Amino acid sequence: MHSHKAISKTMGIVIILVVIIAVLVGIIVYLTQPSAPQVERKLLIYHWWTAGGEKEAINAVFNIFLQQYKDVEIVENPVAGGAGAVMKAVIWGLLAAGTPPDTFQVHAGGELKEYVDAGYLQPVDDIWRELGLEQVIPPTLQSMCKFGGHYYAVPINVHRSNVLWYNPKIFNELGIIEKYGDPRTWDMYKLLEVARYIKQQRPDIAPLALATRTKWPLTHLFEDLLALHGGPEIYVKFWTGQFNYNDPNDPVNKAVREVLIVIGTFIKEGLVNSNHPELEWDQAAALVMQGKAAMYIHGDWVAGYFIANNAKYGEQWAAAPLPKNIFIVLSDSFNLPAKAPHVEIAKAWLRIVGSKEAQESFNLIKGSIPARIDVTLNYPDPYRPETAQDFKTATLIPSAVHGGITKEAFVTELHNILTSMVTAISTGTSVEDAANTAMASIKAAIVNTGLPNFWKGVSFEYFITRP
Ligand code: GAL
Repeated sequence: MHSHKAISKTMGIVIILVVIIAVLVGIIVYLTQPSAPQVERKLLIYHWWTAGGEKEAINAVFNIFLQQYKDVEIVENPVAGGAGAVMKAVIWGLLAAGTPPDTFQVHAGGELKEYVDAGYLQPVDDIWRELGLEQVIPPTLQSMCKFGGHYYAVPINVHRSNVLWYNPKIFNELGIIEKYGDPRTWDMYKLLEVARYIKQQRPDIAPLALATRTKWPLTHLFEDLLALHGGPEIYVKFWTGQFNYNDPNDPVNKAVREVLIVIGTFIKEGLVNSNHPELEWDQAAALVMQGKAAMYIHGDWVAGYFIANNAKYGEQWAAAPLPKNIFIVLSDSFNLPAKAPHVEIAKAWLRIVGSKEAQESFNLIKGSIPARIDVTLNYPDPYRPETAQDFKTATLIPSAVHGGITKEAFVTELHNILTSMVTAISTGTSVEDAANTAMASIKAAIVNTGLPNFWKGVSFEYFITRP
């Protein structure tokens, strides 16, 4: 028989063993337990800024972001192709697949509205409130970011679409301004006259630089000439499909046809560089800087390009708003997709985008002016102070090619229609015939893309900000 003492000793050992085993099991369970899910510190971002001036500008904002969020990895997806020619298709694919990034570059206005209408974005009202953006973003830009009473993007800049870039050396040599006056006051026919004169005097250079490889710079030229020739109302009615497109005598149809004839004449008479089908927008800008072309009609990211390339203002480039009293507005902004994987980091990014510091660094380099009116900059060129002033005194209308006013599907049709017109003229079709074909295709595109319904219920006055 065991004594009581022996029994309690055995019990003691058993208890100690049970405790040891329990502790060991506890340790093993603790060690093998899956740890709390690690939140990835990443910002997945898409943009198309890969050309000179553009990439430096966005890198400046990345640097500001990384100073504050040192532990975040920026997963950058730059998709080359000016104006988002390539990136937009990539983004629509990601959104449709339910795998959006945390934020992506988008133009304020119609382009933004299309993502909102499709339900792909979430409002960013909280960021606007937190940063007090309504106090510092001008009303025109506010309405380009706001749909159904909610803000869906934070704008970083204001670019101007309608600018004539010219080579001052060539202009001086040919006495262009003495002979034809300030380009800020030229009309479309004066521009054609000047181009003809340049060709006659200097057959070795292109009077007007053109790039058609990615098509949109041609539509950009059309947009600028339509505003110049037709004025704000005709421009807005055309891009929103609010006119009688079946009537050839409708003033909008007439103005559009006249612009097509002038563009066609530029092609027919060899007033543009013949290698335009090989060039992207920045390569056309380079022709001006290098003295191989006298003029270029394009947006003011061209200033960013010239600055990044150390081109000398007054010698290699100068800028004249065309016309001065109209400002075709576009604004680059960033948004928050509904299914963004890292929402808090995306919001942190939007706070940086809306900050004074980022708007200052970005715009100095980019060629644009800040979206915020409380940022004053020491611009390295005389063009920006002028355009910043014009933004307050000119009539503002949104750009079509850069997402402000029209439907993407319609502007894409226009890219093809205009490129086909230019190709036809280059290969022997008469300007009249090519313009007629283009007019018929434009009418069909208005109907096929459902353009007149895009801004249903919105009057054309909504798109015009008068001084
Ligand atoms: C525009 C964009 C500008 C500029 C340009 C050329 O659509 O708003 O920021 O970069 O394309 O890529």
